[in-house]
Amino acid sequence: MDICVMGAGYVGLPLGVVLAVQNPQTKIHVQDINVERIAKIDEGQLPFSEEGLAELFDRVRKNNFKATTELQSIFQSCSVFILCVNTDTKSSGLGAGGALEIKSILSCVEEIGRELSKESGFREIVIVEKSTVPLGTSFAIRKRLEKMLGESWMDSIAIVSNPEFLEEGKALQGLLKPDRIVLGFETNKKSAIFAQKKMSEMYKFASEKIIETDCSSSELGKLSANAFLMTKVTSINALTELCETSGADVGELAKIIGSDYRIGPLFLRSSIGVGGYCLEKDTLCLEYLCRAKGLDQAADYWRRLVEFNRYQKKRFGLKVIEYFDNCLMGKKILVLGVSFKENSEDCRNSPAIEVIKTLLDETGAQIRIVDPHVEKRDFAKEFERTTGRVLDSNKVTFESKEVCPKTWEQLSKEVDALLVLCGHKLFKENEESFAKGLAEGRGALFDGRKLFDQKAMRELGIFAYSVGSP
Ligand code: NAD
Ligand code: UGA
Repeated sequence: MDICVMGAGYVGLPLGVVLAVQNPQTKIHVQDINVERIAKIDEGQLPFSEEGLAELFDRVRKNNFKATTELQSIFQSCSVFILCVNTDTKSSGLGAGGALEIKSILSCVEEIGRELSKESGFREIVIVEKSTVPLGTSFAIRKRLEKMLGESWMDSIAIVSNPEFLEEGKALQGLLKPDRIVLGFETNKKSAIFAQKKMSEMYKFASEKIIETDCSSSELGKLSANAFLMTKVTSINALTELCETSGADVGELAKIIGSDYRIGPLFLRSSIGVGGYCLEKDTLCLEYLCRAKGLDQAADYWRRLVEFNRYQKKRFGLKVIEYFDNCLMGKKILVLGVSFKENSEDCRNSPAIEVIKTLLDETGAQIRIVDPHVEKRDFAKEFERTTGRVLDSNKVTFESKEVCPKTWEQLSKEVDALLVLCGHKLFKENEESFAKGLAEGRGALFDGRKLFDQKAMRELGIFAYSVGSP
């Protein structure tokens, strides 16, 4: 039987491609309600960049990989449905600002239920939660289907929690060589037996990495893994201010801390804060889950992480304002990079948004954003979604793909301050030009990603602030 991946986003699309590569005898359908996105994929174009994906996509797209908007047309040929749809933080109603929204998950489930209700006999169906979901979602899915189909169907339906741990930019590495494949099966359900068989066939290529567990541990394990990652970066970020005011350097601290084998060196790069689609939303969900159970001490613990992270983002903007004596009137500011992490076009919940908003709260600054990966319309949309404000084109200009008509040196010569908000490779490669421009124009450097050599900049007479350095 075929496999259907529902949701063709940062997780669903690479997953669909990798499953097609690793299971050449099985047809993989990637289904999404976004017509534009599916049309693009159908024409052989990827809607976002991901290292190595284009090559694998080309290999499978004329063979066992198909993209569609219509679940109906492929439904009967599929027995496994992998849900890779959005689970945003709820913006209204019960748990707003913390709980995860599972309406897209349930909408997929209802569609599956509707199709099943048209079939005459029973057959084995596996519904896989690949999206990050709140604890208890497998129960909610089963309840919903039982209501739609009746109890008699339920032994033929299995729900499996199989969270994804990939990092954007390294998605293929995470999918082809995963460090774990977590499979959470429903307890005391006959259907778990065929689900186990189907999952082990699908993941034959990485069978030694499988961790089998129950649904609840798997669901909560994913949320907790992201909250742990959030803890690690936030802990190093919580040391930056002390370093800046005491003569210690957070980079040195990271070396000292990270060489302990129990801690490890990764995820200790200090920054202007943690951004992206998931870490903050999943930590917030963990807080919500604790709070809902009356576990206030635990809830407060996770809350503090998010609050500190928000402070860290704001602090960077305030640092710039302070440097200009609390007045940005007439100041020209060049911003390098607005995506949530380096070499990516994804600006969902990017820390750059908070920094730019903080600067715009002051009157008078002229901000010029340069990002070789991010499109203006995507950033403007995300800015508006998170701040509730329109990105004012009289105050903010944006250069994207075609990146600056002028040289980097000329650009930095014209500004009062240059802010590194995202450490794209292209910026590092042009460090010398930025340095020359800043030295000539007497502009200041605010490096939120420790991208540039602060000492070398200072030797050129440039005011150079680097997060976490004295
Ligand atoms: P995304 O926004 O890139 O993609 C989600 C896709 O689902 C969109 O294309 C959307 O159109 C589609 N969709 C929404 N409702 C649908 C429906 N009813 N039927 C079919 N398609 C529908 O999101 P993403 O980054 O791929 O994240 C998806 C899930 O995976 C989230 O739960 C996220 O927390 C989790 N996750 C994300 C990452 C990551 O790095 N982005 C990593 C691990 C886990
Ligand atoms: C993160 C996790 O790393 C994945 O394991 C997880 O699957 C995924 O979220 C998810 O569930 O969505 P991703 O969002 O791609 O992956 O990005 P990360 O590389 O984790 O970076 C998150 C943020 O932390 C970025 O803003 C990044 O710049 C920042 N960061 C990361 C630091 O500031 N310092 C670091 O040392 C590492």
